[in-house]
Amino acid sequence: MKSRNLVLTGFMGSGKTSIGLRLSYRLQIMVEDTDKLIERREGRSISDIFAREGEEYFRQQETALLKELTEGRYQRIYSVGGGTPVREENRQLLGKLGLVVYLRARPETIYERLKGDVTRPLLQCADPLGRIRELMEGRSGAYEACAHIIVDVDGKTVEEIMDIIEREAEACDGRP
Ligand code: S3P
Repeated sequence: MKSRNLVLTGFMGSGKTSIGLRLSYRLQIMVEDTDKLIERREGRSISDIFAREGEEYFRQQETALLKELTEGRYQRIYSVGGGTPVREENRQLLGKLGLVVYLRARPETIYERLKGDVTRPLLQCADPLGRIRELMEGRSGAYEACAHIIVDVDGKTVEEIMDIIEREAEACDGRP
């Protein structure tokens, strides 16, 4: 793979963090997670930021961070929060940041993976599956619009997903 950054996007629970870690190991490129960078910077959890400052504040931090990351000098794999591509400005920034990979999953897959999770403020409701469906419907166009590569992850192993990403990234880099 050429010296471009790799940017992993997709809904909460689509596997960005785990794929990012495993790819980091395989490709020997450092991985950064934008949620973790925001938490570290703010000294509190995403849930706390949402509860105290509201979602809009978090979204502002996300966009500000993306702008900074586009100035980065070293090759990285980035996994970004599930809501990042919703803002048009962020979609532009993601494209500037690197090769954007959308890990696409079905709502049922996400629900199975995240049921019982308490760290995603947007899913703390009576009907998380309904909420996942609703959010995904509203967001899928945004994910697709900024993706250079789309991988359907349902039923695939981490190894299989990584192989697809590597192969597709090579194909993209080979294009004029
Ligand atoms: C969000 C996804 C989360 C986190 C925040 C909001 C979203 O990141 O940024 O809870 O709007 O989908 P993950 O996709 O890493 O869970």
